[in-house]
Amino acid sequence: MKRRLISLFLLTMMVVCTQMGCAAATSEKKNTELGGESEDNIAGKKVGVCIYQFLDNFMALFKDELEERLVEQGVSEDNIEIVDSLNNQNTQVEQVRDFIQKGVDVLIVNPVNPARADEITDLAVEAGIPLVYVNREPDGDEEDRWVDGDYKVSYVGCDARQSGTFQGEIIESLGFDAVDLNGDGKIQYFMIEGDPENIDSQYRTEYSIRTLQDASWELECVGDEIGNWHQETARQLMAKALENDKDIEVVFCNNDAMALGALEAIEADDRKVGEDIYLVGVDALEEVIGYVLDGRMTGTVFNDYISQSHAAADTAINYIKREKVEHYVGCHYVKVTAKNAREILDKIKK
Ligand code: GAL
Repeated sequence: MKRRLISLFLLTMMVVCTQMGCAAATSEKKNTELGGESEDNIAGKKVGVCIYQFLDNFMALFKDELEERLVEQGVSEDNIEIVDSLNNQNTQVEQVRDFIQKGVDVLIVNPVNPARADEITDLAVEAGIPLVYVNREPDGDEEDRWVDGDYKVSYVGCDARQSGTFQGEIIESLGFDAVDLNGDGKIQYFMIEGDPENIDSQYRTEYSIRTLQDASWELECVGDEIGNWHQETARQLMAKALENDKDIEVVFCNNDAMALGALEAIEADDRKVGEDIYLVGVDALEEVIGYVLDGRMTGTVFNDYISQSHAAADTAINYIKREKVEHYVGCHYVKVTAKNAREILDKIKK
């Protein structure tokens, strides 16, 4: 009897061990499929980030907020590497190669040249590393490739058409007669563009004007210049334009850094925004919101780097967790005038 009991015990143990062995093998297989580590171990995952240029004041805000969010979501600070692509496409491609070599788990790229994003996509896809583009949207054909090829590639950002439309609406809300300072029945405007290759510049330029045309405003372009998102360049362009043309009524800048440059030139020429000229930008930099509150700038458009960077970090983490990820993750701009400037200021200062 005793011997039979022992045999039964041994048999039960064998069955249990065999099953456990199977479970262990399954879990080992699962881990191998996942690259030897559980996808829940977010802290151990490596994130490689390329920013087109740290010098850009909007991207500097975006970068810090992105890093904070990644850490908040569990990625260890030591596993996040953020590099400055110095506005050079070749440098950026090399940085991506380097990240791939180092075995990052996900890439976040603010492309130097969105029209050449395919180079970066191909590297990431070939290496099997998910990729999240931010802020500078690659073109439609490139985005179609991600869908058709079922690539683990996404874009997180806003639709720049909305920011241009909001700039136009800020001016429209003042009323034609108030803006037509010289009373000649048309609005003389000066446009300062960012980088002409960039979709944000193209759409902001087009849609700010289109909004006023759609409202049946007659417009006259007295100049359209390239400021490359840069304050000092814009200051010089504005100074020159004011020297040549005394009748500029509205200045549209594709971003706030350039609007700050334009403001310097306007004030150096003894003109007052809101009385002698109107000025709008995009981004809602803290300094600019202050000027909107003081009436030294007509308005701006909040380029919500908080929502955008959070959505970018969350998208990257969803790729790591192998959750379903959309190829396009959109965010919204917000119009900023003296009415809501305080609210936006509180939002970015908290
Ligand atoms: C825009 C932003 C600009 C500049 C640009 C860089 O969204 O408004 O200030 O940062 O991105 O691509």
